Amino acid sequence: MGVKYNDKEKQFHLFNEKISYCLGVSPDGEVGHLFFGKRINEDQTLPLLQSRGIRPLMCNLKEDEDYTKELALLEYPAFGNGDFRSPAYEVLQGNGSRVTNLTYHSYDIYSGKKSIPGLPAAYTNSDDEATTLEITCRDDVAGLEVVLFYTIWEKYPIISRHASIRNVGTDQLTIERALSCCIDFPDQDYNWLQFQGAWGRERVPVERNLSDGITAIESMRGHSSANYNPFVIVKRANTDEENGEAIGIHLLYSGNFLAQAEGDVYGRLRFEMGINPKWFSWPLKGGESFETPEVMITYTKSGLNDLSQNIHSFINNHIVRSNYKNKPRPILLNNWEATEMNFDEEKILNIARKGKEAGVELFVLDDGWFGKRNNDYAGLGDWFVNTNKLPNGIAGLSKKINELGLKFGIWIEPEMVNEDSELYRAHPDYVLGAPDRARTLGRHQMVLDFSKKEVVDNIYDQLYGVFADTDISYVKWDMNRSITECYSLGGDPDKQGTVYHRYIMGVYDLYERLRKAFPEILFESCSSGGSRFDAGILHYAPQTWCSDDTDARERIRIQYGTSYGYPISSIGAHVSASPNLQTGRATTIDARANVACFGTFGYELDLNEISEEDFERVKEQIKFMKEYRELLQFGRFYRLSSPFKKNLSSWMVVSKDQSTAIVAIYKDIKQPNEPVSLIRLQGLKETALYTLNGEKEFYGDYLMESGIPSIWNEEPWYATEGDFTSKIYVLKSNVTK
Ligand code: DGJ
Repeated sequence: MGVKYNDKEKQFHLFNEKISYCLGVSPDGEVGHLFFGKRINEDQTLPLLQSRGIRPLMCNLKEDEDYTKELALLEYPAFGNGDFRSPAYEVLQGNGSRVTNLTYHSYDIYSGKKSIPGLPAAYTNSDDEATTLEITCRDDVAGLEVVLFYTIWEKYPIISRHASIRNVGTDQLTIERALSCCIDFPDQDYNWLQFQGAWGRERVPVERNLSDGITAIESMRGHSSANYNPFVIVKRANTDEENGEAIGIHLLYSGNFLAQAEGDVYGRLRFEMGINPKWFSWPLKGGESFETPEVMITYTKSGLNDLSQNIHSFINNHIVRSNYKNKPRPILLNNWEATEMNFDEEKILNIARKGKEAGVELFVLDDGWFGKRNNDYAGLGDWFVNTNKLPNGIAGLSKKINELGLKFGIWIEPEMVNEDSELYRAHPDYVLGAPDRARTLGRHQMVLDFSKKEVVDNIYDQLYGVFADTDISYVKWDMNRSITECYSLGGDPDKQGTVYHRYIMGVYDLYERLRKAFPEILFESCSSGGSRFDAGILHYAPQTWCSDDTDARERIRIQYGTSYGYPISSIGAHVSASPNLQTGRATTIDARANVACFGTFGYELDLNEISEEDFERVKEQIKFMKEYRELLQFGRFYRLSSPFKKNLSSWMVVSKDQSTAIVAIYKDIKQPNEPVSLIRLQGLKETALYTLNGEKEFYGDYLMESGIPSIWNEEPWYATEGDFTSKIYVLKSNVTK
């Protein structure tokens, strides 16, 4: 692993055992792209894939009439100088010009990787895990310097990139576009896989063909959103789960974003990703710099399961920071669907007691414990206990919960305020809102202006008081509306284009301060379910509530889609009541648990209200989860059969030593006289003999080449039961290597 520099040709080759990423200086001094893909020999000089010989209507400099940027592959292209594709950045200069031209200036190579001030970023645990190349480019006319950061990871087919934009002159500059990366592919025979949805149906994989023209997804909601996830896969059309080339690109950012692929008419493809340039405008005085968020670019030639497995492991080892890093997550019981805001201490203790009896480890008190919070109209912003509901305070309740032998967790929504709150009455200027205009509400609430430090400080002080006073082990951080009228009241009119970004920096700042003050707390992020599920937020909160839709059937789809870009240990998944609150659909308690166990696992219902038979099943489920959660949450995860394509869907996890695996098979709709299908397993040791649920025995090769049949002669599970049934198989062998 490392970076090889060819001084004569001015070429840089980042490589590890699996991948190569190569760049070099183009004839006009700009940094050009040479290659990205499977590892190639690092000793060769690579051709600049730029056709020479000027063509009609193409533009060139007088000094080199044979060279045009229009045909070049570039690393961080500019606007207005002959490359007519989308630029990676745009800078408005004092004289009104937006034309810039960055040329290569110098480089630096070092072991390890730097953090990015105020932003999430992948990190090394020791310097030998990664090598970083910094390329400095300059535009002396504009007084502009851009440093391009590239980190190659020793054990992962992953490149981390971001850019730092500096004003090295004296005149003020305004950054109007500052994307995190541009990847120019030499051909455009790719498909694009995006993860889209809405509340209750998040991260559905949708594949689109990339041809000429622009394909893009974005968020302008102020959070990464359920609509489009800031993770896309650029893949060959025939790449499937087991075979083929694909590149996954994550933006480590939780605010407005843009991901775009532009096919040009010369058969090339430009991929770009970063902060959404819409209503982004960042004044930069002499001496100041701006850091773009980081992108994580993962490569595979071995199919989408391989891509996801590398992503899962990388996020767990190099993005997540928490005392719970790589540790099994506590089995929790949350009161939201059981009580909503209608509870008192006794009701809560009653639910918690039953949870303890079932084997739950952590009780989470959701929305409704603070201020005048009896409904959606009041209380947000007032982070002190509602003593009408909890006369002994949060500290008193948590003590009683602890005495039951349970840990205690709490819900917060720190970025929001209700009109009916002490905070808003005291500080009406703390909210985002355009001057002299009505404010749009969402769930009757307004968004606090987290671009202002005093607002973040106020919320920090309030929350610090609650956390310091109480034995809190877990915090669910919610965010239940998108941002509108994004204007910072009383702020400089010239700086309003910075507010969306400063807002999310404020969120990260509050997370960071609370994390540091209370390192023992497990944070779970949430945004009306999974509307802020991104790789950036996982740097602060290692798990995210995946969706408010806890229906067993829907959850298979939501968790399946989420697994492409995010580890199983990050997927908040609970068993809730049946019929389901969101869909009205009835499913068995096992159908619900068989999905939730491929996640952080917990319950979201009043266990006093289920049948004795179901309660016995809950006890068994918790026992099972305690035995296998490490494998379920951190094992090698394979998608086997897609719920978006098949009536029988399936996934599995395999332990590192291949001795244990857990397979789940889910049936959607019961058909009469149904066909027999086989689910082919993956990741097993071919020569190992596996026992399935302690009964049948098969060798790994058979299970992978033939598969588990949907109908066993002596076990007609699929034949007799109805819709939405499922089955879990635990496979064990005595393989140790
Ligand atoms: C939305 C979350 O997704 C739910 O789980 C719950 O916490 C509610 N908010 C509470 O208001």
